[in-house]
Amino acid sequence: MYVPEKVLTNKDLEKIVDTNDEWIRTRTGIVERRVASDDQVTSDLAYLAALEALRSCSLSPKDLDMVIVATNTPDTIFPSVAAKVQGRLAATKAGASDIQSGCTSSVYALTYAAAGIASFLWERVLVIGAEVLTRLLNWEDRSTCVLFGDGAGAVVLGVSPDDKNRVISASLRSDGTKSDLIILPGGLVECPASVEMIEKKLHTIHMKGNDVFKFVNKELPPFLSEFCDESGLALDDVDWWIFHQANYRIVESVLRRLDVSMDKAILNVDKYGNTSSASVFLAFHEAKAEGKVKRGDKVVMVSFGSGMTYGATLIEV
Ligand code: ACO
Repeated sequence: MYVPEKVLTNKDLEKIVDTNDEWIRTRTGIVERRVASDDQVTSDLAYLAALEALRSCSLSPKDLDMVIVATNTPDTIFPSVAAKVQGRLAATKAGASDIQSGCTSSVYALTYAAAGIASFLWERVLVIGAEVLTRLLNWEDRSTCVLFGDGAGAVVLGVSPDDKNRVISASLRSDGTKSDLIILPGGLVECPASVEMIEKKLHTIHMKGNDVFKFVNKELPPFLSEFCDESGLALDDVDWWIFHQANYRIVESVLRRLDVSMDKAILNVDKYGNTSSASVFLAFHEAKAEGKVKRGDKVVMVSFGSGMTYGATLIEV
């Protein structure tokens, strides 16, 4: 993983916008978040996380068949972040593509990579979740600007030499009728760049937070029950739940509905806020580094986001 050095605390935010540390902590669990420096773009964060991932499994960029970047905040719409990272790594035998499915992008990307490996299309795939969300926020809108942060996480998927250490199952869903719940409306085909568009701040993230909360609470519990059932697993058999780190209360409320203890949830939203596509990889990395998630553990990565997309991946570590 890679996160920018600059830390923005809730106390710092109190000086920028009409909010307070207590509100942010109790509603979201967030205490601080990281902010990219002015000269950093998403591909920089993605590249640094990718180097770490390759180093940790002793692979060279030349070993990669594919580079997939999950992001909602690409440097540019085209070329893709993945192409820039592939070029910078000199992963000369690899293809490159971005996946954009809201905060669920990383779970989507992981699933595509696993499917590509299972069908013998690729042997080794680099999957990166990377975001610089802070540059696309309206810092006058307290209902969104306190929630998000920047960061990148990366994993390398390959052919498993044994039955362990693998993606066991995955399920991806979307309800496109709810496309208005989380949206960055301006700057592209539907609403091209204009002075009026910028004055209305349509180039920043807009979110109906309450409706997102309700959607996740309604859809995720039955989806996750069904997912575990279809994966041949009781809910209790899951060692760790790694939710998209949007906020503490959402995780708590979905797990309560499933009658699963919060002790099984991996959380680091307090340190990084909502890093969208990066969040499940940041949480996974830290949980492994801290020795919480161990070899042989069954881990479900769950995410939800703009679309409204949602999905889950079951991994045996
Ligand atoms: N500081 C202080 N007060 C605030 C702030 C703030 N930062 N933001 C809102 N408020 C106020 C509101 O103005 C409102 O005041 P009022 O009652 O006087 O009108 C009050 O707090 C309650 O506002 P709500 O929006 O109802 O707050 P809620 O309890 O719903 O919490 C939150 C808001 C945290 C955003 C919640 O709705 C939530 O977690 N939603 C889910 C969002 C999410 O997880 N998105 C993830 C996907 S993001 C992606 O995919 C890119």
